[in-house]
Amino acid sequence: MHYIIANWKATKNLEEAEAWLKQFLSYLEADRIVRERLESGALKIVICPAYHLLSVVKSTISSIPNFAIGTQDVSSFEAGNFTGEVSARNLSGLVEFAIIGHSERRQYLGETNETVEEKTSLSKKYGIAPIVCIRDKNDVIPHEAELVAYEPVYAIGTGENEPLEKVLALRQSLQLGDNMRFLYGGSVNEHNIVQYSSAKEIDGFLIGTASYEAKSFYNAIRASL
Ligand code: PGA
Repeated sequence: MHYIIANWKATKNLEEAEAWLKQFLSYLEADRIVRERLESGALKIVICPAYHLLSVVKSTISSIPNFAIGTQDVSSFEAGNFTGEVSARNLSGLVEFAIIGHSERRQYLGETNETVEEKTSLSKKYGIAPIVCIRDKNDVIPHEAELVAYEPVYAIGTGENEPLEKVLALRQSLQLGDNMRFLYGGSVNEHNIVQYSSAKEIDGFLIGTASYEAKSFYNAIRASL
């Protein structure tokens, strides 16, 4: 299975998300090949919007097989009096995936390897598959991670995707459990995705900028097949 995961970050209000979904679904409707890949389980598309959009995205895509939603974070608190926090328990039954430890959260919001481990474990406890982001081989990969997204900081949002050989060398240096899947993220787009998608060591992608427009995200999916 190939995972193509959209990380919308803090973009999009309700109106923009609805327009994106409408456009994306019209492409999907017209494209038997992508629909067949989803139906057969060869492809999984995951949209990770900010919290306010989770329900609307979910209700729009829920009838499409292997089209899922994820959150961009979970709280390190399990439940209780923590105003403003959204916990894995809050999200259980709503999302299938959680991005954990994105480098932007490590840089701006104090995320550490310790909080990444706590959040991974809470996600698992509540039935949410953790997508753990690492910046290099020194970041800790909790044993409960299901997907590991390698995202070198210099490549995020810069247009400077990391050359395939380097991604493969990093992949080689990791001790991933048998059940863990390896994703690459960092300026992936419709023009450069094909080189990675043909490498059997890479199980999918975490896509930021190129997922903000429905057309460029769809084109990236199409180009990866
Ligand atoms: P980018 O973002 O595709 O804009 O580089 C990827 C990410 O931060 O997950």
